[in-house]
Amino acid sequence: MKDFDPWSVGEIKDYGKLIEDFGMESFEAFRQRFDSFRYIRRGIIFGHRDFGKIVEALDKGKPFAMMTGLMPSGRFHMGHKMVADEIIWFQQMGAETYICAADMESYLMRDVSFEDARKTALTEYLSNYFALGLKKRGMRFWFQSDYVPEYYKLRDISSKRVTLNELQSIYGDMTTGKLVSVLSQVADILHPQLELFGGPKPVVVPVGADQDPHIRLTRDIASRLNAKRDSGRDMKCIPPSATYHKFMSGLQGGKMSSSDPKSYVALSEEPKSARKKIMSAMTGGRTTVEDQKERGGEPEKCMVYELLLYHLMDDDLELSRVYHECREGKLLCGECKGICAELLERFLLKHQKKLPSARKKAEKLL
Ligand code: TRP
Ligand code: SF4
Repeated sequence: MKDFDPWSVGEIKDYGKLIEDFGMESFEAFRQRFDSFRYIRRGIIFGHRDFGKIVEALDKGKPFAMMTGLMPSGRFHMGHKMVADEIIWFQQMGAETYICAADMESYLMRDVSFEDARKTALTEYLSNYFALGLKKRGMRFWFQSDYVPEYYKLRDISSKRVTLNELQSIYGDMTTGKLVSVLSQVADILHPQLELFGGPKPVVVPVGADQDPHIRLTRDIASRLNAKRDSGRDMKCIPPSATYHKFMSGLQGGKMSSSDPKSYVALSEEPKSARKKIMSAMTGGRTTVEDQKERGGEPEKCMVYELLLYHLMDDDLELSRVYHECREGKLLCGECKGICAELLERFLLKHQKKLPSARKKAEKLL
């Protein structure tokens, strides 16, 4: 079984197999308890590692943290919104919130300048996070290239707890840039447990399934740091927990990617242009109306349905009506796209009203 490469992930079709192959756990056991959260209720968050520790902290009223990182490149789109919603949900559940702009990773792996990364992190990511409901209180935001000395010390010490062979077996060919990116990410995830940040506590990292190699590595390094006293310091830390979500597909099928504007709707996009993209999105419809009326459509393969499922239709009954009427051939794609476009335009208008003040908030933070 070959590990997947977090820098060039394609589509993942079989999430059940991921659970089997890599030892993730299914999220089923927690689904009912947290079913007020759409991504959990609908199985979009499908897997986890050690999420029990987070639930325990919640039950006992103990501190815990949420940590995640963003690659500051491209426009903020509906795929990013899913991660943002997760961050905000954890914050509302009481998590200390740590968000990292991975500008070192984007510089080393994608040649994005630090200046561009800063701009993108501010105007695209942070502004949208705030407009979606993130609160400044109890959150920490940093750039990998510009942070506290303790963070770099932890990153460098981590290098002593993993061999090059191990990294090669996880990531394939290692380059010096990959090496620094990987160790930076380890430090991103573990540093909330340093004394400076209040000491050991459960930390959950909500990520796409492609980031699991990083999580496994970080958990191994955490255990090893635990077993040794490093440079006279106690580096006790709890192996981090993770939740895994499915990917949104691109509007034309395939990947949703910041480098292909036809594949996504940006949250700052003109509502008219967004409507056009919906109207030409790939659906699970049949080639002729007659055929669709007779055999019904396939919502499972439909990008329009996916948008409703992930973002635009929070009411399960309403969504299930779309699903069944589609399968029975009662709902045709033209009408359905119209419904979706309408919901999307409404969402964008409302969201974009909040963007200017959200941006001011973001500017103040930096
Ligand atoms: N590597 C992540 C990405 O490609 C970004 C990232 C950096 C990250 N540090 C992180 C994600 C820590 C989760 C936790 O998007
Ligand atoms: Fe997709 Fe709607 Fe067409 Fe069904 S009717 S295939 S859900 S667009």
